[in-house]
Amino acid sequence: IIAFFQKKVLAGKKVLITAGPTYEAIDPVRGITNRSSGKMGFALAKAAVEAGAEVQLIAGPCHLTTPLEYTGKIKRTDVISAKDMHAAVMNHLDCDVFFAVAAVADWSVKNASAQKIKKSDQSNPALEFELNPDILAEAAKKASGKKPYCIGFAAETNDLEKHAQEKRIKKNIPMLLGNLGPDTFGLDDNQLLIVEEKGMTKTNKLSKIALSREIIQLVSTKI
Ligand code: CTP
Ligand code: CA
Repeated sequence: IIAFFQKKVLAGKKVLITAGPTYEAIDPVRGITNRSSGKMGFALAKAAVEAGAEVQLIAGPCHLTTPLEYTGKIKRTDVISAKDMHAAVMNHLDCDVFFAVAAVADWSVKNASAQKIKKSDQSNPALEFELNPDILAEAAKKASGKKPYCIGFAAETNDLEKHAQEKRIKKNIPMLLGNLGPDTFGLDDNQLLIVEEKGMTKTNKLSKIALSREIIQLVSTKI
């Protein structure tokens, strides 16, 4: 359903969104990923377009078609690894709002093999990890003045309020949205804890598109 009757609160604004998981190769046929479906990021992309924005969506490997593709208002770049996603984001930082919705792998496999690892090669493979760049923290550091307004997401398993506020401060971003869960991955509904310097509020439990419209409305008052 196209909801072009939404208020055009982001008319003329450029919105950058990362969505989905990333995939870190172990060898050419195996890798490490996570449970992110991309649904929240894609819903935000749709809500941003409904609000009049132009969207650059950087999507990790997920099985979703681009919402409102035919409007030409969403440009999509598909990436695989966190490093690819980092490079794509750095190329598109000239925007008004950056939603870091992707579940970015924290580590990549340092000793990934160029050939398929065979069971007979060795006993159990010993993977070595190296830290991936923190895309959101770097974007926030590069932001000049209020541009882009950077919003992070967080899924925690415990003590959401504490972790979310600490994370917001550490990444130096004005807003972090915590999944109130208990689970959100792959689901169509979500409930968010909105964390800002001034404090926290909870949204209702809503479909990801309805939630996205509320978030877009809120963010439009900040930029
Ligand atoms: N993020 C990012 N680049 C990374 C890791 C995270 O851009 N390498 C972004 C996510 O898109 C999200 C926010 O940072 O918006 C918080 O991600 P999260 O994984 O919760 O935070 P981390 O700092 O990675 O901390 P941890 O996983 O240890 O809780
Ligand atoms: Ca992480």
